Amino acid sequence: MTGRAQLPSWYDDLDGTLAACWNFLARGVADRRSGFHHPVLSSIGLDGAPRSRVMILRGVDIAARSLRVHTDLRSEKIAEWRADNRVSVLGYDAGQKLQIRLTGRVRLHADDAIAEAAWQSSRAMSRVCYGTAPAPGSEIPAGDAFALPHSDNAEALEAGRAHFAAVVIDVASLESLYLAFEGHRRARFSWDAGGALTARWLAP
Ligand SMILES: Cc1cc2nc3c(=O)[nH]c(=O)nc-3n(C[C@H](O)[C@H](O)[C@H](O)COP(=O)(O)O)c2cc1C
Repeated sequence: MTGRAQLPSWYDDLDGTLAACWNFLARGVADRRSGFHHPVLSSIGLDGAPRSRVMILRGVDIAARSLRVHTDLRSEKIAEWRADNRVSVLGYDAGQKLQIRLTGRVRLHADDAIAEAAWQSSRAMSRVCYGTAPAPGSEIPAGDAFALPHSDNAEALEAGRAHFAAVVIDVASLESLYLAFEGHRRARFSWDAGGALTARWLAP
């Protein structure tokens, strides 16, 4: 078998590359071993400097071209996204040798049906994080000077609901970089405001 036979079917196929990227992202929601399960999301800090953090990918809607993550409304990134909702999302899966870089805008959902469905889909061990006191990012006098509700206390877990937000990312562009001995493949896909797609190969 030659090296080329090992290459993915979408190696030289722009449409196939885009479909593969969306499928890898969608699989990343449930597959904890996927590099796309915990992408890095970047916002623009209130001082104008970039700020990045790892977040768990909770949902992908390929038809709507959107991703979903969950967070605490009290966290700094929320204030940043309220000021400027642009976001960059970056994931790399070493097994697939594939980097995916996305740009888009976030929508914050705290007290609507989207937030409620996301909250209902969250497990107790995730819900518990939204009941932290004091708020995430607060300075504390010692490493253990914070409290979490116990995960078997339903009432306390429900109290975290007020701090919970589903963050939906409407994707405006997707860039892939596939690493191969035979030659890397880099492609950029972008959608205009009307949803029309432009797809281009780029020199890696
Ligand atoms: C593996 C991993 C997964 C994480 N998942 C989330 C997440 O889903 N949501 C979240 O808000 N923070 C998550 N965090 C914590 C963030 O990286 C970050 O430290 C925290 O949200 C505070 O970010 P901020 O100060 O920019 O708001 C995760 C961290 C790690 C290491």
